[in-house]
Amino acid sequence: MMRIGMLTSGGDCQALNAAMRGVVKCIAHSGVEVEFYGFKNGYKGLIYGDFRMLTSKDFSGILTKGGTILGSSRTPFKTIREPDENGLDKVEAMKQNYYKLQLDCLVVLGGNGSQKTANLLSEEGLNVVSLPKTIDNDLWGTDMTFGFQSAVDVATGVIDNIHTTADSHGRVFIIEVMGHKVGWLTLNAGLAGGADVILIPEIPYDIGKICDAIKARDERGSRFTIIAVAEGAISKKDAKLSKKEYKEKMANYKYPSVSYEIAEAIQKKIGHEVRVTVPGHMQRGGAPDPYDRVFASRLGAEAGQLILNKEYGFMVAYKNREIVKVPLSEIAGKLKYVSPDASIIKEAKMLGVCFGD
Ligand code: F6P
Repeated sequence: MMRIGMLTSGGDCQALNAAMRGVVKCIAHSGVEVEFYGFKNGYKGLIYGDFRMLTSKDFSGILTKGGTILGSSRTPFKTIREPDENGLDKVEAMKQNYYKLQLDCLVVLGGNGSQKTANLLSEEGLNVVSLPKTIDNDLWGTDMTFGFQSAVDVATGVIDNIHTTADSHGRVFIIEVMGHKVGWLTLNAGLAGGADVILIPEIPYDIGKICDAIKARDERGSRFTIIAVAEGAISKKDAKLSKKEYKEKMANYKYPSVSYEIAEAIQKKIGHEVRVTVPGHMQRGGAPDPYDRVFASRLGAEAGQLILNKEYGFMVAYKNREIVKVPLSEIAGKLKYVSPDASIIKEAKMLGVCFGD
């Protein structure tokens, strides 16, 4: 009898359920006798022994269901070695719960921080297999994460809707897209939605350049301008600040987010009426799109196969159109940024998109 533990950790995304279903179906289909244990709310469930046994009923009808049937939470990697408020050693507790249940393997569905913890547990001797989840698509070692395409769909839908009202009123509109550190989501939704200006953390912006782009559109007779801004977009001026100086600036920051700062600067500089739309967590919600259903199912099946082969310490990943395995030790702690020299940026510029640089 095989015993497999499973958890979903960090910010949720579409297709978490589809991916878990993929793992379960693959192993069940092999004919191996297996028991699945679902830890509730991410690593917290593993730390505090909060789990339930999962049956085939749990996995029925969840391919198309958003969210996660296990619940999720953030357990920051930087605090994982610190004891909790009652002095509990979290890493030791996770190991003990794994051994108590006599697990053969722990399956972790997570983003960057969760993969670091997965690697730590693997180094501590647990058998771990992980899957790459996040709407940010910022995981190193994989060309694609599940959740990303569905979030692109949602964010693009928002830009599409804003287009019509921006046109009616002749306004500049800023749509703030998720992504504090990387701009994959903003870049792809921005291009798909035909944004005129796209601002991502990897390419610091100059407000003057953004205003020039708006004025150029005015001169061509365009009634509106659409600006897709990543949550983590940063001005050239701020990018030059030291960590300490930037922290000080943010401590007295009067705007709800960078989009409002940009909106005010545009209004002051060229007098245009600017509105900000923030779809926020809508981008992570709802059903996975067909791409993510297929992609997460494939990753789940390959993760299941790794477990059947007793190949542990890997994340299943997507590289050059193939599903491969990447050692957890290789990906832990690295982010996959948009390179300002990437061909997608060059092509977007050829299309006339302004990046504010
Ligand atoms: O990591 C995914 C993500 O959705 C980011 O794009 C976003 O900045 C962040 O999570 C939001 O975190 P929370 O759900 O904790 O507010």
